[in-house]
Amino acid sequence: MSAPTLPSLSFAKTAPSRTDAVVIGVSGTAEAPVVIGAPAAVTKAVEKTQGRPLTEVLRAAGASATVGTTQIILAGKDLRLIAVGLGEDEPTPPQLRTAAASAVRAAGSLADKGLSITVSLAATEPEAAQAVAEGALLGAYRYAPISSKDTPHPVAAITQVTGGKREAEQAATYGTVVAKAIAQAREWVNLPPNLLHPATFAEAAKDHARDSRVAVEVLDEKALAKGGYGGILSVGGGSSRPPRLVRCSYAPRGAKTHIAIIGKGITFDSGGLNIKPGDSMSTMKCDMAGAAAVLAATRAIAELGLRVKVTAYAPMAENLPSDTAYRPSDVLTMYGGTTVENGNSDAEGRLVMADALARATEDKPDLILDVATLTGACMVALGSDIAGVMGNDEDLVDQVLAAAESAGEKMWPLPIPEDAVGELKSPVADLKSTGPRMGGALYAAAFLQEFVADVDWAHLDIAGPAFREGAPKGHHSTGGTGSAVATLIALAQSYAS
Ligand code: BES
Ligand code: ZN
Ligand code: ZN
Repeated sequence: MSAPTLPSLSFAKTAPSRTDAVVIGVSGTAEAPVVIGAPAAVTKAVEKTQGRPLTEVLRAAGASATVGTTQIILAGKDLRLIAVGLGEDEPTPPQLRTAAASAVRAAGSLADKGLSITVSLAATEPEAAQAVAEGALLGAYRYAPISSKDTPHPVAAITQVTGGKREAEQAATYGTVVAKAIAQAREWVNLPPNLLHPATFAEAAKDHARDSRVAVEVLDEKALAKGGYGGILSVGGGSSRPPRLVRCSYAPRGAKTHIAIIGKGITFDSGGLNIKPGDSMSTMKCDMAGAAAVLAATRAIAELGLRVKVTAYAPMAENLPSDTAYRPSDVLTMYGGTTVENGNSDAEGRLVMADALARATEDKPDLILDVATLTGACMVALGSDIAGVMGNDEDLVDQVLAAAESAGEKMWPLPIPEDAVGELKSPVADLKSTGPRMGGALYAAAFLQEFVADVDWAHLDIAGPAFREGAPKGHHSTGGTGSAVATLIALAQSYAS
C-alpha cells in the first residue's frame, strides 16, 4: 500500500520564468477588482498578450473576489493566469487555504500530466504561508483509481512565492507536513475495504511509521484474546479477517505533557447482524477515519519534532454478519473487566473504542482525545461538515475547539447530560451499549466516558465530516477528507513544551 502522490512543493522569491500557470489573488469588487500577488513579469506578460491593463483583463473576464472562485486567463503562448477570489478584505488563513486549493484544482484541468504551477498570493506572514501550502497541496490531492490504465497526476510541481521570507518558508514547510498527513488519512479512507482490512491496515500503520521516531506495536487476535479485549474481539468476530489493535508511541525528550489519541478503525461497517440498509452501508469504508487520523497525526507530530508525548491507539475490526458474529443481547467482558450488554451490533464503534480507552488509561496520560465516526445521530444534529465535541472536562473541550478553529476545521460542542449514563443500565450486565435513539451521539459519548476513569477526556464524533459525498470544495476532496488530522496536530502543538 503506497503513500498518496502529491506534487512537490518548493519556494521562490518571485515567480519562476518557466511555469505553466501562475495563481494570483483577486479582491475588491467586480467593477473594481484589486489584484493581489501578481509578479511584475507576469503582469507584463498578460498585458502584452491581452493588450490592456491586468485589472481591465480581470474585469472583462468576470474575475470575482468570492473566495475560491477561479478564472483562467491566457497570459502568453505557454502561460496561463489563474485568478482566484480572496474575499473583499484582507484574506484570513482559512480563506487562503480555500483559495489556494481551488486554484490548484482548477489548474489541474490545463493538462493531463506534468504541470508546474506557481502560487503567488502575497501570503508572506507565517500563518498565511502555512495555509497556502496546505491548500495548494490538498487541492492537488486526488485518489488515483485502481485501474489497468495509467492515471498520472496532472500537477507535478508547485512553486509557492514567499517573497524570500524565511519565516514564511518555515511555516509553509510545517504546512507541507500537515497536508501530507491529511492526504495519508484520506488515502487510507479511500482504499476499498477488500484491500484495507484490519491486518493490512495494521501493516500500513507500521510502514507509515518506518523512518520516523514513532514506535509501533500490533496486537493480533491471539494477543487480543490473551489481553481480554472483549469489545474488539466481539465486533471483529463476524469477519474472517481478524481484528488488530495498533499502538504507536512518540516520546521525545523534554516533553511535559502526555497525550493519548484513540481512533475508531472499523474497516467496514455493515452493521453486523443488525445489518444496515444498502444506502447507509455504501459509504461505510469510511468507518476507520478516526484510526487513519490518529495514525497520520502521530507521524506528523513526530516529524515536526513537537515536544509532547503521544500514544496513539487504533482498534481495527471489520463488522460483518455471519454465524460467528456477535449478537444483540450478547454480554461482553471488556478490557479491564466491565461487562456490557450489546444493544445493537451496529453500535460497534463504542465497543472497540471502550477497550482502547480502558487500555490507554493504563499509560497514565495527562489527557485523552478520541476520534470516531461514531453516530449517525451526530450527523443529524450537526450536518455533514461539522464534528461534535464532547468530554468530561470543559477546559479540554475548549482547547480542542480552539485547536480546530486554528486548523480550519469546523467543530461544535455537544453536552453529555449528567443523567445520560442512567439510560445505559442493563439488567444483565454492568452497562448496556445503547441508550435512547433521540440524542444518540450523547449516549454514545456517555458510554465511552465510563472507560476513561478520571483522566481528562474529549471525544470527537466525525461521522459527518469524515467522508464527503459531494463535489470537491476548497481543500476538501470527495471521499475521505482527513478530518481531525489538522486539529490533532494543532492540539499537540498547543501542549508542546
Ligand atoms: N459507523 C456508524 C456511524 C456513522 C453513520 C458514521 C453515518 C458515518 C456516517 C456507527 O457504527 C453506527 O452505525 N451507529 C449507529 C448506532 C445505533 C445503532 C445506536 C447509528 O448511529 O445509527
Ligand atoms: Zn455501526
Ligand atoms: Zn461504525
